[in-house]
Amino acid sequence: MSPAAPVGVVIAGAAGRMGRMLVSLARANPALRVVGALEAAGHPGLGADAGRTAGGGDLGVPIAAEMPEAPAGTVLIDFTAPGPTLDHVRAAADLGWGAVVGTTGFTREEEHAIDSLGDRIPLLRAANMSVGVTVLLDVAREVAARLGESFDVEISEIHHRLKKDSPSGTALALGRAVAAGRGVVLEERAVYGREGLVGERPAGEIGVLALRGGDVIGDHTVHFFGTGERIELTHRAQSREAFAAGALRAAAWISGRPPGRYSMRDVLSAA
Ligand SMILES: NC(=O)c1ccc[n+]([C@@H]2O[C@H](COP(=O)([O-])OP(=O)(O)OC[C@H]3O[C@@H](n4cnc5c(N)ncnc54)[C@H](OP(=O)(O)O)[C@@H]3O)[C@@H](O)[C@H]2O)c1
Repeated sequence: MSPAAPVGVVIAGAAGRMGRMLVSLARANPALRVVGALEAAGHPGLGADAGRTAGGGDLGVPIAAEMPEAPAGTVLIDFTAPGPTLDHVRAAADLGWGAVVGTTGFTREEEHAIDSLGDRIPLLRAANMSVGVTVLLDVAREVAARLGESFDVEISEIHHRLKKDSPSGTALALGRAVAAGRGVVLEERAVYGREGLVGERPAGEIGVLALRGGDVIGDHTVHFFGTGERIELTHRAQSREAFAAGALRAAAWISGRPPGRYSMRDVLSAA
């Protein structure tokens, strides 16, 4: 039996931190082939070879501002910024490609606009593609459900000084997991930082706090504070490889699937 043809992937934001990691891992993966690399018009990296930009040898894929021609079954992998991501996923839907979206910082309206494209193509959007955080989301939900509101929940996150959105998409996802475990809605319970004479902490609040500095790739802790005891669930990303490997695994998995909104849990549970 001949091996399956590699899945073509188009990497948006190919000169960025995640984009470079994605290109370098994808080129080493025989199940995938990089068939396109995108940056915005005017970006200084346009025209450069995506493999060289990622720190390796030439790949024969120049970084371009336009979507390449590629057949249905191709998968867009997008780690850029909310506006461009929405444009790219719309274009991918018109081309019949799948899409794996790692970008964070969307408004509710933008999230809805992207997710609705899952009616037309296979789409996976996750604020964190690592195996560890995918499992942590389930664990946080379970712990929150078992402890209830007698334990106070605070979620803290730390990221490098160049991160643009705050709090992180992962912190929000953890907040939603805790809220789901308690049977409440995050937006009705969340407090994003505190300042001034804020008074005593009401029961049921879900605090979300963001620290920024240096080159921290991404740390998240869900604190459950009880009386005389506490639980802290922490995930620390030591390299962007954990996110990129998850995104590439998702791309290989999603290619050729029916339209729908898939999750990293779907990808992991298929392993
Ligand atoms: N889901 C996950 O597991 C995960 C993990 C890590 C990061 N992220 C998220 O992924 C996103 C990117 O993170 P990063 O650290 O890689 O940021 P980054 O280094 O700033 O990379 C983003 C890249 O996208 C480019 N870009 C901007 N507009 C574009 C457009 N219209 N077309 C094509 N490319 C465009 C940027 O170019 P310029 O430099 O010119 O702006 C940059 O090269 C963020 O939202 C981040 O929170 C998610």
